[in-house]
Amino acid sequence: MTIDLATLARAVQSAYDEHHAAPGGDNASYIPYLAKVPSGLAGLAVVTVDGDVLTAGDSDFRFAIESISKVCTLALALDDVGPDVVQAQVGADATGLPFNSIIALELHHDKPLSPLVNAGAMSTVSLVKAASVEDRWQRILAMQSALAGAPLELSDEVNQSEQTTNAHNRAIAWLLYSAGVMYCDPMEACDVYTRQCSTLITAAQLATIGATLAAQGVNPVTKNKVLLEGHTRYVLAEMTMEGMYGSSGDWAYTVGLPAKSGVGGGILAVVPGVMGIAGFSPPLDAAGNSVRGQLMVADVAKAMGYNLYAG
Ligand code: DON
Repeated sequence: MTIDLATLARAVQSAYDEHHAAPGGDNASYIPYLAKVPSGLAGLAVVTVDGDVLTAGDSDFRFAIESISKVCTLALALDDVGPDVVQAQVGADATGLPFNSIIALELHHDKPLSPLVNAGAMSTVSLVKAASVEDRWQRILAMQSALAGAPLELSDEVNQSEQTTNAHNRAIAWLLYSAGVMYCDPMEACDVYTRQCSTLITAAQLATIGATLAAQGVNPVTKNKVLLEGHTRYVLAEMTMEGMYGSSGDWAYTVGLPAKSGVGGGILAVVPGVMGIAGFSPPLDAAGNSVRGQLMVADVAKAMGYNLYAG
């Protein structure tokens, strides 16, 4: 598909201008670091499958990747054990409940269902092939970096903030272990999961992850083949099912693109075969999705006529 870059640049700037100061929402506060990030920050970025990069606002500000990391680890697990094992041993369905729900486990016979909620993400971390804790962590970090086209780094400050407040996730990890759906030591999985949430990323790098998923796993910026042939479809399907948590259905209904949010304020949408669109702004709505990020990303998609279900 040929993209008119001048039209795209106008769409990005206009979505930013319109929504970068939209009211509503609050920073996540259950992770102390996130509560301190300036709420007024907002950035927007698009990376096309041809490697064109368009940005507006604070697109170079490094924020915590948080739950968007789940997309990268899912991609790695798919390459390691294949889509059938991920579906059988973690699941591939929406929970319909908040991202850290324990009730969701109870309701579904202790199966996490989705690799994109906290329970399923820790289970997915445990499926990654690794010889040690450090190997597991380094392989996940390498996958994040390869998808983003840049060497991402752990923020010790974010990690410290999360590791000291993640009792709820540790409890989930033990529940998964007792149910037989944790495939390495549960505290190892929780530790590495917490680290994967604590890397810093810019909106432009996030959009590159999206562009790589849009381009069948070939990073359009580095030109490296990051994922095995045919695996991006499973990642995108999961993003559609659960990427926006309790709002995933509404997002599919109104915007019609696979997307993934994080409580750091990031949101990534993918237009398969075309581009990644990433927004960032810390205030979140009740489902845990960035208020301004959703508005900015949805606006670019609408202006460019991208909606998977619109024909
Ligand atoms: O495990 C947690 O709760 C956080 N590290 C990540 C949660 C998250 O980003 C959910 N996103 N909307």
